[in-house]
Amino acid sequence: MNDRFAALANAATRALRAYDPGHDLPALRRRFGATLAELGSNENPLGPSPRALAAIETSLPQVYRYPDPQGGALKAALAEHLRVDLGQVALGNGSHELLMLIAQCFADAATSVVFSEFGFAVFPIATMAANARPIRVPALARDHATMPLGHDLDAMARAIRADTRIVYLANPNNPTGTWFDDSALAAFLARVPPTTLVVVDEAYHEFTSAPGLSSALRFAAAHPNLIVTRTFSKAYALAGLRVGYAVADSGVVAVIERLRESFNVNALALAAARAALGDQAHVAHGKQWNLGEREWLAQHLRARGLRVLSSQTNFVLVDFKRDAAPIERALFERGVIVRPMGGYGLSEFLRISVGSRVENERMLAALP
Ligand SMILES: Cc1ncc(COP(=O)(O)O)c(C=O)c1O
Repeated sequence: MNDRFAALANAATRALRAYDPGHDLPALRRRFGATLAELGSNENPLGPSPRALAAIETSLPQVYRYPDPQGGALKAALAEHLRVDLGQVALGNGSHELLMLIAQCFADAATSVVFSEFGFAVFPIATMAANARPIRVPALARDHATMPLGHDLDAMARAIRADTRIVYLANPNNPTGTWFDDSALAAFLARVPPTTLVVVDEAYHEFTSAPGLSSALRFAAAHPNLIVTRTFSKAYALAGLRVGYAVADSGVVAVIERLRESFNVNALALAAARAALGDQAHVAHGKQWNLGEREWLAQHLRARGLRVLSSQTNFVLVDFKRDAAPIERALFERGVIVRPMGGYGLSEFLRISVGSRVENERMLAALP
């Protein structure tokens, strides 16, 4: 490899490192076959709605055509489902793409971006890729009474400066599983100047059931600077297709549309996402199942003396109270994939997705 080219990268890219994909999952699938327990990426083991799979089959013969560049049918279905205008919806190749695009469109070297210390990993990457200045706000303490490691919204509001163009929040957050309720968000929004965009990443929204927690969308009309992102990767179980969406003021969407690649969501993904959206009974069933299975998992982990943080998602963050790297390694050797947290500075923790009961039992049995 010729390192000379690294110096030719633009300033923002020079400061970045390539995404660390973690373990080589295709190789591990070959090695462990059906006994591999994949609990590292917060996927939904129930799988997608049968309607989504049928829609893919129906669309398959048309794959020689480009997809609808507007994603019109999916956008219309989302607009109806969310009771917003069509012009308020942007589609992404996963919500990851939208989180990046928002920074590309609105932030630059003259601006800063605020996010929480343990906020979703894409927030600092999006900030740096836009060459903006990251303002990383310390999270709530590890021993905080109600929401350890959660977003400190009060400190985040105080961190906003005149040049802050974006604040990224995740509710609930990955990797902590923490959340804040509607009243806390309302108080936060009231403190944000209209020239600062507030992105609320609701990737796990469909799993939530905490009292007082609905969605940032209820504040959209009062706060045109609000952007809500969601995904079909989690509750809708379509991670492999890459579809996400953002809901925002139509003026914000119009800016995002300037930079969006015209065919960013493929034809099979558009069709499957629309069909999946139409099967809310499947989503409701998945939510109930996840609630029960997450509780079962947490109880069994707690019975081992481990500290399991409260979660509103389809994963739990587990505090081993010692370096968790050897534990992760031992699980890996037994074909159980979980997510190490060293990259976040949380090396005593592992993030464990709610898998199928068989996978969860395998993980518990493999714990050293
Ligand atoms: C909080 C959060 N936001 C966004 C994403 C990105 O999801 P996708 O790009 O699959 O929509 C994830 C994925 O794990 C996530 O955890």
